[in-house]
Amino acid sequence: MSKHKPPKKSKQLRSAGWFGSHDRDAMVHRSWMKNQGFPHDQFIGRPVIGICNTWSEVTPCNAHFRELAEHVKYGVLDAGGFPLEFPVMSLGEPVMRPTTMLFRNQVAMDVEESIRANPFDGVVLMMGCDKTTPALLMGAASCDLPTIGLSGGPMLNGRYRGETVGSGTHLWKFTEALKVGTMTLDDMPEVEACMARSAGHCMTMGTASTMASMVESLGMGLPTNAAIPAVDSRRKVLARMVGRRIVEMVHEDLRMSRILTRQAFENAIMVNGAIGGSTNAVVHLIAIARRVGVDMTLADWDRLGREMPCLVNLMPSGEFLMEDFYYAGGLPVVIREIGRFLHKKALTVNGRTIWENCKDAVNYGPNVITPLAKPFKPLGGIAVLRGNLAPQGAVLKPSAATPKLMKHKGRAVVFEDIDDLHRRIDDPKLDVKADDVLVLKNCGPKGYPGFPEVGNFALPAKLLKKGVTDMVRISDARMSGTAYGTVVLHTAPEAAAGGPLALVRNGDVIELDVERRKLHLHVSAGELARRKAEWKAPPPHADRGWVKLFCDTVNQADQGVDLDFLVGKSGAKIGRPSH
Ligand code: FES
Repeated sequence: MSKHKPPKKSKQLRSAGWFGSHDRDAMVHRSWMKNQGFPHDQFIGRPVIGICNTWSEVTPCNAHFRELAEHVKYGVLDAGGFPLEFPVMSLGEPVMRPTTMLFRNQVAMDVEESIRANPFDGVVLMMGCDKTTPALLMGAASCDLPTIGLSGGPMLNGRYRGETVGSGTHLWKFTEALKVGTMTLDDMPEVEACMARSAGHCMTMGTASTMASMVESLGMGLPTNAAIPAVDSRRKVLARMVGRRIVEMVHEDLRMSRILTRQAFENAIMVNGAIGGSTNAVVHLIAIARRVGVDMTLADWDRLGREMPCLVNLMPSGEFLMEDFYYAGGLPVVIREIGRFLHKKALTVNGRTIWENCKDAVNYGPNVITPLAKPFKPLGGIAVLRGNLAPQGAVLKPSAATPKLMKHKGRAVVFEDIDDLHRRIDDPKLDVKADDVLVLKNCGPKGYPGFPEVGNFALPAKLLKKGVTDMVRISDARMSGTAYGTVVLHTAPEAAAGGPLALVRNGDVIELDVERRKLHLHVSAGELARRKAEWKAPPPHADRGWVKLFCDTVNQADQGVDLDFLVGKSGAKIGRPSH
């Protein structure tokens, strides 16, 4: 597949450290593995490919991965490799509580240690639902073996009573319709089935589709990885090609660190702008970059995304879905369209540059992927806001916001935490007006704990009933990539870490000016110092286990929310024998 580097035999396979000798340990390693029916020659000189699988019945977006893994195996065998599938903890966005983000780093640790401890020469990462993609990339990056990402693909378009519906995006619309009475509970069973009608992950340009696009734009996936629907047979062909290619990559010693360069990350940030991608990509890409020693910051996001128009007319910002995006030509068309901005020589897993992969892509759906000269929206990138309310930054997605609210000054209506919000938001007596600014505290990494997607919380019912569709909302939480609204997210430092968000009180005036990247609390420095002296940190969420480790060591949003001791990489040195 690589036209630059024809496969050559590796000098020494890493797996030979397990299978390549005749001592007692090697006999143990081979003998027990043979109980699965592997012939002896399988252990001699063949690259061992670990297929890292996040299949789980409680991760519905990845529930088709066992079958997809079989096609990866066919490809590995085609190319003379030895495929070995292994499970890691899986993260099912629609099911797990309190939030999958609490466990992203735990999965990354699982992946890293599973790869390092086993006889793998190369790795295929099977990823789909939101957090499974960054978790696997982070863990694998800290080992730095030859690695390819394979996304599971989006669901087919949702359809409900003649209307195209997007997973997630329509969930927010339907729940608001329930609140105002234009839908009833009797409609819900049918709605639920229509919104998720095939295998695959959310088919809006939410976090899963964004991260699959990041895999492709970083060069970590084969072209077309992002958009082929999960149930399209071409997804199986792609899986087989991934299996073939990873064996070649082992022979070429093409490691992750040669793909994940600063140029690759800069390309991905620009592509994120052009697809109108999820704000969650900011946190995840920073975390992945810090694993490989690329010092990416929020400033890079603002600098590279600021002027990037959004070309892709997909929900939540637009009208189409990932299935349409694939038929229009998918991500290669977007990359070709913004090629003049990109680092064209960035290397990808197939051994070609990103430009060689995409320069001839054809746009079959100009209403789905608009030309750069006439973009779907003028601004697609992520705006990074700063000010005395967010000294380390906060983010907002202009393409999902209401234009007239992007410059706004209003009175703060404060909710101390998520329970306070749930208690009072729909209270008819709540003192709130449409031009107020809703503030939600203690929903950051330490505060919730885990940094949940609650930043796009629903508006007060009494305002929804009056026809209000958007208000400025500020929190230290994230929001679902399928969501929309004028929502300021990831405010850092978070309230639970003593950030200024903790000091906001009802009636304070807050100013948002997206054009000037400003988020300002109109309270004097002296008054803020007085409030800070009175502030008490919330009690710890746990005194043992994962939650304690997470809360004690998690970095803030601007640093990727990784655990502080996991930043960086340790390689894949073979450990001491176990027997
Ligand atoms: Fe899995 Fe949306 S819930 S991708």
